[in-house]
Amino acid sequence: MTGTTAFIKAAVIGHPVAHSKSPLIHNHWINQYRLAGHYDAIDIPPDQLANGIEGLISEGYAGFNFTIPHKERACDLCDELDEAARLIGAVNTMQIKEGRRIGMNTDAFGFITNIKTARPGFIFTGCTALVLGAGGAARAVIQGLLEEGVAKILLTNRTREKAEMLATVPQIEIFDWEDRHDRLGEADLLINTTSLGMSGQPVLDLRLALLPKRALVTDIVYAPLHTDLLKKAETQGNQTVTGIGMLLHQARPAFQAWFGVMPDVTPALEKLILGTADPAL
Ligand SMILES: NC(=O)c1ccc[n+]([C@@H]2O[C@H](COP(=O)([O-])OP(=O)(O)OC[C@H]3O[C@@H](n4cnc5c(N)ncnc54)[C@H](OP(=O)(O)O)[C@@H]3O)[C@@H](O)[C@H]2O)c1
Repeated sequence: MTGTTAFIKAAVIGHPVAHSKSPLIHNHWINQYRLAGHYDAIDIPPDQLANGIEGLISEGYAGFNFTIPHKERACDLCDELDEAARLIGAVNTMQIKEGRRIGMNTDAFGFITNIKTARPGFIFTGCTALVLGAGGAARAVIQGLLEEGVAKILLTNRTREKAEMLATVPQIEIFDWEDRHDRLGEADLLINTTSLGMSGQPVLDLRLALLPKRALVTDIVYAPLHTDLLKKAETQGNQTVTGIGMLLHQARPAFQAWFGVMPDVTPALEKLILGTADPAL
C-alpha cells in the first residue's frame, strides 16, 4: 500500500492526555501503511476546548479523537453527528470534511468488532446480555448490543439511577447491584464495563456459580489483560474475550476517516500496546 503525498495531522485531545494509547496506535499505522502524517496528543482543559479545536483546525488538522473529559462536550462542537454519536451522546472522533466538523462515535463498533473477531461463532441476535456498569463506556456497549439485535439487556450499576438513565428502550431491564450474582443464570453474554478489576482498582466481586457454561464473558478493562473476572470464567469453562481489541478496533474507523485506509489490527500492534498498557485509557 502506498501513501498519499499530503501530510495529514490528527490528534487525541484530553485533559490529562499523556496516558492515551491512541498516538501509539495511529503512528504505528501511519508507519505500517507508509503514509505522510503524524498523530499527536494534545492537552486542552475543558474551558478552552472550543477555542483549542478552532486553532488546531486552522493549523490544518484532519481531525481528532476525544478522551476524558471531552467526549460529551465535543457533541456541541460538531456541525453534524453520525447516528452512533447521536444515540450514545458522546463523540470520540471528529473528522474535518470540507470545513465541516463531523462527529462520530466508534466505541460501539470497537466493542462489537472485538467480540466478532475473537469469537466469530457467537450469535448476538436474540441473546440476553448482562451488563455490569453504567458509565461512559457502558453507553457505547449498550448501543452496540442493541444494533446487533440482542433480545434483552439486564443492566446493573452500583448507582442505580445512572443505570435507569440508560434504560431508554424496552429491551433494557434494570436490576439492583446486590442481585448481580443471582441474575447470572439468565445471561448468554456477560460484560464488565465497570472499572473494577483494573490495575489499582478493587477486583469485581462476582460469584459465577450460576453463570451458564454457554455464556461468553468479556471485560472491557484490558490492564491487566486477563482480569480476575476472565480468569474465574475460564476456570469455570466459559469462553472469554479480553478488552484490548475494543481499544484497537475503535481506532480503525477514525484512522480511515482521516487517512483513507481502513487499518488492520495485527498481533504486532496488540503486543506494542500491551507492552505499554496503562490502567487508564
Ligand atoms: N477496552 C476499551 O477500549 C475501553 C473503552 C472505554 C473504557 N474502558 C475501561 O472501562 C472502564 C470504565 O470506563 P468508563 O469510561 O465507563 O468509566 P466511568 O464513566 O467512570 O464509569 C465507571 C463505572 O464503574 C463503576 N464503578 C467504579 N467503582 C466502582 C465500585 N467500587 N463498585 C462498583 N462499581 C464501581 C461505576 O459505578 P457508579 O456509577 O456507581 O460510580 C461506573 O459504572 C475503565 O476501566 C476504562 O479503562 C475500556
